Amino acid sequence: MPDTAFNMKSYEEELKSFSWEISKKELGYKDGDLINIGWYCSDRICNMGKGEKLALIWESFKGEEKRYTFNDMRVLTNSIAVYLRKLGIKPGERVCLFMDKIPELYFGFLGGLKMGAIVQPLFSAFGSESLFTRLDDAQTTAIITQKKHLPKVRNILEQLPSLQYVIVVDDDGSKPLREKEYAFHMAQEERIEEFEIYPSKAETPSVLHYTSGTTGKPKGAQHVHYSLISQYITSKYVLDLKEDDIYWCTADPGWVTGTSYGIIGPWSNGMTQCVSEMGFMAESWYKFMERHKVTVWYSAPTAIRSLMKEGNEIVKKHDLSSLRHLASVGEPLNAEAVLWSQEVFGKMFHDTYWQTETGCIVVSNYPGMKIKPGSMGKPFPGIEATIVDLKTFLPLNKTGVVGMIALKPGWPSMIRSYWNNEVIYQGKFKNGWYLCGDRGSIDDDGYFWFVGRDDDVINTAGHLVGPFEIESALIEHPAVAESAAVGKPDPVNMEVVKAFITLKKGFEPSKDLELKIMNFVRKKLSALAMPQEVEFVETLPKTRSGKIMRRVLRAQEWGEEIGDISTLENDM
Ligand code: WTA
Repeated sequence: MPDTAFNMKSYEEELKSFSWEISKKELGYKDGDLINIGWYCSDRICNMGKGEKLALIWESFKGEEKRYTFNDMRVLTNSIAVYLRKLGIKPGERVCLFMDKIPELYFGFLGGLKMGAIVQPLFSAFGSESLFTRLDDAQTTAIITQKKHLPKVRNILEQLPSLQYVIVVDDDGSKPLREKEYAFHMAQEERIEEFEIYPSKAETPSVLHYTSGTTGKPKGAQHVHYSLISQYITSKYVLDLKEDDIYWCTADPGWVTGTSYGIIGPWSNGMTQCVSEMGFMAESWYKFMERHKVTVWYSAPTAIRSLMKEGNEIVKKHDLSSLRHLASVGEPLNAEAVLWSQEVFGKMFHDTYWQTETGCIVVSNYPGMKIKPGSMGKPFPGIEATIVDLKTFLPLNKTGVVGMIALKPGWPSMIRSYWNNEVIYQGKFKNGWYLCGDRGSIDDDGYFWFVGRDDDVINTAGHLVGPFEIESALIEHPAVAESAAVGKPDPVNMEVVKAFITLKKGFEPSKDLELKIMNFVRKKLSALAMPQEVEFVETLPKTRSGKIMRRVLRAQEWGEEIGDISTLENDM
């Protein structure tokens, strides 16, 4: 008997009957209607009579707590929308959100969408150079930030002529603001009850998330308001969100999980979410979940492995009996982690697989479905997924054979393009399939298994880092002649960045230089992109045309076969 306690019927039944129309119907949306994510997440929930329901329970680093109802959120997002509009920001212009996980980040996201802006969330740990690359590419008009991140913006402001407004949400007047800088205090702004929401339609651009590829600069993944149709129903079915849940998504909205499932999905379902400003700390995380009686928890393998490392005793010290559903995303969830969660929480983490580009979960383990630890599960009903041959890009139609994970385009939340980069976007499609760029296989029961990435992108702690961006930063260091960045294995973060470097004449390898180079990258890019190890080498392996062969270095790190090296220019 299928377990009717879940939002989703049994997987098999759902496969037969599911259509995106179900989501549209529940959202009261018909093709051609106006659709604005900001409205759907706040006004609509209030119109449904849930204005007094808690939308956000927020805790600061210091443990200070703030609570906002859906009505508070509706009004505050209106205030932000009015503020942006009055400043002179026009629909379609890019508004970057560059903040820690504070309420202004969440409400700024919805407020920006309400006035028709394209919101561009960026991880607040980014250094000036990472920030510059993304603001320059998007020709961003405004950035909303905090005092502590202002110096990073000031560093690059002059080089960004399109950036006209730097909005500081916590300015205390202690130091004068400069030209183009504006103070905004959400709590002191006039509460705007009525706001004329921008009449966005299905294909109106909504969110611009930057994601890294192997070559070139990071690309802006262009989402549209229609993505809601996928994000709403996958939140309901995969995360099994229900009326009385207290939901916790540990992801930062600088990355797609933090927006699709940390803002849009849960709030369009009218859920209460809690958010903690703090980063990972086992004891604090358990306390947080105990204090707020978290019921549904969406996290990532690195966090789970970090918790595992802290042991089982610490779990027993906390009452986590409220937890009823656990899910994970971002990197391979190893079987040990799934089994451990069963042991300590009495529940298995449900692995979910998707990408910035897909906008929503595309392969997953569903509540009630048998979990095979280590497998990513099965395609979401309404999404056709397969494994294609690595050379011909045609479906393999064979089980147990490794190929590339591919999806049939057509679900609502697929990105519509990369910002100013249609050529690269089109290159992701072959024979009518969207190629995810990941290798995997399908077993006899239809379960998908992840094998690895098909490109050189480094996935560290669930965050994609592009080697090109790291190498570009490295060669700006005065001692570095050439560089190659690859992922090396790490027991907790899955992989971390390792840099291979040849030095310019006059520089000698040393521990001190290694640390200086590491720090150099950390400041320019972020701690994630910082190499955890620098190896100084005489030469780097290259193709005859002079291209550095990262895969040779990577294989070396992973103890794998190097494969075809016939095109190598120099001896290894
Ligand atoms: C990887 C994050 C294994 C994969 C939502 C994918 C995973 C990339 C899983 C997307 C998983 C995501 N198992 N690998 N369950 N989920 N990935 O764009 O390589 O930041 O292509 O989106 O993360 O990362 P992105």
